[in-house]
Amino acid sequence: MARIITITSGKGGVGKTSISLNLALSLAAEGLKVCLFDADLGLANVNILTGIYPKKDLEAVIFGQLSLQDIIIKDYQGIDIIPGSSGVEKIADLTQTQTGNLISAFIDLEAYDYFLFDTSAGISPQVISFCMASHEIILIATTEPTSLTDAYSMLKVLSRSRYDRPVKVVINQVTSGKAAQRAYVHLKETVNRFLSMRVEPLGIVASDKNVRAAVISQIPFFMLFPDTIASKCITAIARKLIAKPVRTGDMPLEFFWDKCLSFLEKQHTLPQATVSPKEAVSGKETTDPDMKEVVSHINAKLSLLIKDIRDIKHALKLHERIPQQSQERSPVLPEPREISLDFESWLDTKG
Ligand SMILES: Nc1ncnc2c1ncn2[C@@H]1O[C@H](COP(=O)(O)OP(=O)(O)OP(=O)(O)O)[C@@H](O)[C@H]1O
Ligand SMILES: [Mg+2]
Repeated sequence: MARIITITSGKGGVGKTSISLNLALSLAAEGLKVCLFDADLGLANVNILTGIYPKKDLEAVIFGQLSLQDIIIKDYQGIDIIPGSSGVEKIADLTQTQTGNLISAFIDLEAYDYFLFDTSAGISPQVISFCMASHEIILIATTEPTSLTDAYSMLKVLSRSRYDRPVKVVINQVTSGKAAQRAYVHLKETVNRFLSMRVEPLGIVASDKNVRAAVISQIPFFMLFPDTIASKCITAIARKLIAKPVRTGDMPLEFFWDKCLSFLEKQHTLPQATVSPKEAVSGKETTDPDMKEVVSHINAKLSLLIKDIRDIKHALKLHERIPQQSQERSPVLPEPREISLDFESWLDTKG
């Protein structure tokens, strides 16, 4: 039975697509059969990273015009890719026939070892439904405070939706092993304190100029630069996943969609389940549409203010002192060995 993993973040642009695609390739390089589902509607999605622009996506399957076999991109560097794109937008509002089309499309799909979902930015009901229906979630964050806050918001929404398995965390764009460890521990301590769920470290991905060079070439960095540091980090993550199998039970892919859709159905009766990241953090979510608008306006202003303060601190070169102070105050880091910091010495010498 395929191991179904959703890759998510909360904040956009932190590296979900880069990690999903290259992790899929890395798992395939380890001899596994992998399918990547591109659920990303954003700008930097799988199409851009691979240079493949399919004419049709899951929407055509949902509307009964094409079969999954017609839209699936077969054997791209050893993996299969399903362009979800506009179909994903539709799944919250499907008719019964369309739901049937979607579910039955996956019944005949050949067996995969791994099925990876690359999600779009933000905490939309669709993204949460993918997370809830998966066997595992990989949460991507960077060491930036905004990314950690949004990662926490995502965890809070998942916890409220009663997600009860540990969420695996990857810290991306890492320039120093210590900063990555500090970011992870900070997230973990906050989760342990306020949420009834657990996180566990899956690994880090170094900030690597070859990742950007690969984006420009439209060839995944794992293929173009197999020996670059980011590729080594991805291999370490793939091997850690393989080494730690999870119980997949008897959940074939069509059941995954069934679970997704019934989760979305329930959300229609729970308007408070759709919360903005800032609302989720403050815990002051409201169902009143007017209040929602006011809160989101205030949050937008606050975000700008926080950004300005960060920029000013940066300009004054004060920002470096802040993590040091918080490190002094926080208790000594738990389980430093649990995080895969295989590249820590490299990162520290460069960083
Ligand atoms: N480890 C890394 N080192 C250097 N650059 C990186 C790294 N990871 C991601 N990037 C760069 O960050 C940018 C955003 O990455 P990506 O598109 O994977 O993020 P995303 O989370 O999928 O974004 P979105 O939320 O819009 O879907 C890309 O230009 C990518 O090249
Ligand atoms: Mg993306």
